[in-house]
Amino acid sequence: MSATARKMAPNAEDIRARKGGTPLVSLTAYTTPMAQFMDGHCDFVLVGDSVGMVLHGLTSTLGVTMEMMILHGQAVARGLKQSMMVIDMPFASYEEGPAQAFRNAARLMAETGAGAVKLEGGVEMAETIRFLVKRGIPVMAHVGLTPQSINTLGGYKVQGRDAQAEAVLADAHAVAEAGAFSVVLEKVPQGLADRITAEVAIPTIGIGASAGCDGQILVVDDMLGFFTAFKPKFVKRYADLGPLAEAAISEYAAEVRARSFPAPEHVFADQAPAAAKTVAPKAPQKD
Ligand code: KIV
Repeated sequence: MSATARKMAPNAEDIRARKGGTPLVSLTAYTTPMAQFMDGHCDFVLVGDSVGMVLHGLTSTLGVTMEMMILHGQAVARGLKQSMMVIDMPFASYEEGPAQAFRNAARLMAETGAGAVKLEGGVEMAETIRFLVKRGIPVMAHVGLTPQSINTLGGYKVQGRDAQAEAVLADAHAVAEAGAFSVVLEKVPQGLADRITAEVAIPTIGIGASAGCDGQILVVDDMLGFFTAFKPKFVKRYADLGPLAEAAISEYAAEVRARSFPAPEHVFADQAPAAAKTVAPKAPQKD
């Protein structure tokens, strides 16, 4: 992005104010280079606990720790100037109650510079969200499919079909009334996502929800094709970089074995090259 187009990173209230406006753009990031690629293109970047599955090879997000979130949060913060950073509270860092949640949310924000935390849960988390917001911690909520509850949800299923719809709607209302500045809707039917978006006063951020949401988020390794263990239906692959990376690595391996890498241009001569002559810069021409 050019220097003239440079803008300040939005904060939680700027995100809240985008309700019903131009859709909010978001991706997850876990490293500095990836954060640099998305800086300015995304309104906010989420340091998601999906890091456990896409970078650490875990089979769920349950094994993600505060230390992992802090390390990746610090790396992402170094890559962002124009996009807001939101960080996930990992499993078991907030569910005991408001005091535990405050202690860990404050630590995540202080040690990474994140502008807000995200936590999973609806009605049952409303009291905790209210407690955090009243004490200066902006909260993004996350309802519908909440991967940290995978063992009680019984799998990564669509949430809110048929009779379940009212419960997901109640969750979205509860977190909005508790003071969350936005809410992620994960894997909920399109009609329900549209209804929630119409009814709640805060921006809805869809992932497997609806194009009618106030914004969208995807896991960056899914949309770039780096994470290939499985592909949820809601993921669009904007690039297929995993197979490209593997092809490049296989070419490198073949060249090393054939001694064709390194080539002459990649090695250093035994004698230093003669010092290049310094050429005085030309004076500007006047007519
Ligand atoms: O951890 C994560 O990446 C998330 C997104 C899927 C919303 O919570």
